[in-house]
Amino acid sequence: MPDRIRLDGKVAVVTGAAGVIGTATIRLLAERGARIVAVDRREADLRSAVRDLPASAEPLAVTADVTQEDEVADYVRAATDKFGTIDVFHNNAGIEGEIKSIPDYPLETFRKVLDVNVVGVFLGMKHVLPVMLKQNRGSIINTASIAGLMGSPQIAVYSASKHAVIGLTKSAAWECANTAVRINCVCPGLIDSRMLSTIIAGRNPGGGPVPNDRLVERIPARRLGHASEVASVVAFLASDEASYVSGSAYTVDGGRTAA
Ligand SMILES: NC(=O)c1ccc[n+]([C@@H]2O[C@H](COP(=O)([O-])OP(=O)(O)OC[C@H]3O[C@@H](n4cnc5c(N)ncnc54)[C@H](O)[C@@H]3O)[C@@H](O)[C@H]2O)c1
Repeated sequence: MPDRIRLDGKVAVVTGAAGVIGTATIRLLAERGARIVAVDRREADLRSAVRDLPASAEPLAVTADVTQEDEVADYVRAATDKFGTIDVFHNNAGIEGEIKSIPDYPLETFRKVLDVNVVGVFLGMKHVLPVMLKQNRGSIINTASIAGLMGSPQIAVYSASKHAVIGLTKSAAWECANTAVRINCVCPGLIDSRMLSTIIAGRNPGGGPVPNDRLVERIPARRLGHASEVASVVAFLASDEASYVSGSAYTVDGGRTAA
């Protein structure tokens, strides 16, 4: 019986690939047999993210800013020029913005967060979907957040942007009804990462480190998540094992949103 969780021969494009979750994802997708197109705006970090991938991944690193439509078109073209197809698209690049309450939040940062987290995700789908629809095959996984499912003090703009990612995901899934293109999103919770540390420090200025016990008290799993645990859900959604899954927002949060 074929192993439906394997991704042998599939071509996976991952944005934000130089970040914690993107790097964990390209590693796991490559381990499962995928060929990898890694996209990020940070060139040097992107190069080191792809360095340890197995040769079977035939990694292609493309430096691009996901907010620029010509650069998005370029990374999609680079993927199809090299591999002739895109089977999996992890639309993952994102920023947290500033950690401030609404009256103090600079409009310029508001626009920047929406630009990366919403326009970037929209542009990615706009350019990848025609490739997938033409071949009538593909899986898109957008990265939202549990902040897209509930309010989050001092990151209201980030929260709004992630609510938008969930709306884009569900609408795109409907638009692709009657095709074999599936669109889902993952909603990571508190993942042990630079982004989480930045948010916690921003909420607690001058207050020193927040004890781990306090950080995890509202998480039923009583621990932070690992980027590899987000990657596992992305890899599942990418695979044929998820053939009947579309339009969903998968939490990877140790039960945080159930609490
Ligand atoms: N870390 C968490 O706890 C957490 C929780 C929920 C959701 N998320 C989401 O997961 C995704 C990945 O986050 P992460 O923790 O790996 O953060 P990260 O900062 O480590 O990685 C994000 C990557 O996106 C890239 N990026 C940012 N703007 C870009 C742009 N305009 N063009 C191209 N690349 C750009 C960055 O260079 C970086 O490498 C983000 O969408 C984030 O919002 C993270």
